[in-house]
Amino acid sequence: MKRMLKYRINIKDTWKKIKSERKGKPKVTYDNEFFKKLSDDFSNRIKQRNYEYGRKSVEILKENLEGFDNFNVLEVGTGPGTLTIPLAKNVKKVVGVDISKMNIEHLKENLKENNIKNVEIINEDWDSIDIGRFDKFDLVVCSHFFWMVDDLEKHLEKMEYLSKKYCSIIQPCGRDNIVKEIYEKILDKPYMGEFEPDADYFAYVILREWGRLVEVRYFDYTIERNLEEEIRYVASFIGRFKEVDEKVKEKIKNYLIEKSEDGKFIVNNKVAVMWWECER
Ligand SMILES: C[S@@+](CC[C@H](N)C(=O)[O-])C[C@H]1O[C@@H](n2cnc3c(N)ncnc32)[C@H](O)[C@@H]1O
Repeated sequence: MKRMLKYRINIKDTWKKIKSERKGKPKVTYDNEFFKKLSDDFSNRIKQRNYEYGRKSVEILKENLEGFDNFNVLEVGTGPGTLTIPLAKNVKKVVGVDISKMNIEHLKENLKENNIKNVEIINEDWDSIDIGRFDKFDLVVCSHFFWMVDDLEKHLEKMEYLSKKYCSIIQPCGRDNIVKEIYEKILDKPYMGEFEPDADYFAYVILREWGRLVEVRYFDYTIERNLEEEIRYVASFIGRFKEVDEKVKEKIKNYLIEKSEDGKFIVNNKVAVMWWECER
């Protein structure tokens, strides 16, 4: 049941505006293999520090959700297994949905590498998936998925519908300063908060509107990239605002070389782990 509210924050329009700036694939034309390499980078990065992002998320959930070891979990948007791998090591079963064949291939490799056998993979679109075919799960979770969603309320309703106990959203909060600095250089205009606020903000407001008592914990994690990976990472953002061709790529590269003498880029980020009990 949702609460009756006389005054509401206009999440829908704000989300629509922010999403319209981020929508679609970034335009990157300097390398035909760009998206394949970006996906490989992603799969390699999530394993750093023994799956630090996923491992720390799971530690928090395990500490706070009763009966966690025995849970059947639905994960929406698994990617290469950032959360899926540590999650599967700590619960009874994970059903993971992802639309991308490339990311699913990485997930399969990573499951094999970790000898994990309790994950069922569904290569489908969460937007059109038949939710009636599932039994209810103990936990429905998505990690770093909010930016993929057009209608946040519908997404959260679907998550709640499929859960008999808990739902959880895990979302990185904050963007590296280097991306903002390069945005200003390449687009030749001041950064006006284009990459903010982060999506956890919206989840919290919607769920509180619904009267859900959302628990939140934050943790720190570290990401390391080499020069080529950092160029691709930055290009994937800049490409949303301007085509990254060979010339723009060189500009990004030169800027990055100035920033790091040893060709390593190490960033500390924060992640929000949110969870709540579904109303039954
Ligand atoms: C940013 S990645 C996050 C991956 C992983 N959960 C993590 O925390 O790193 C988002 C993932 O959602 C998947 N995705 C996007 N839209 C989707 C949809 N409509 N249905 C299912 N998966 C989707 C993408 O393919 C991608 O693997």
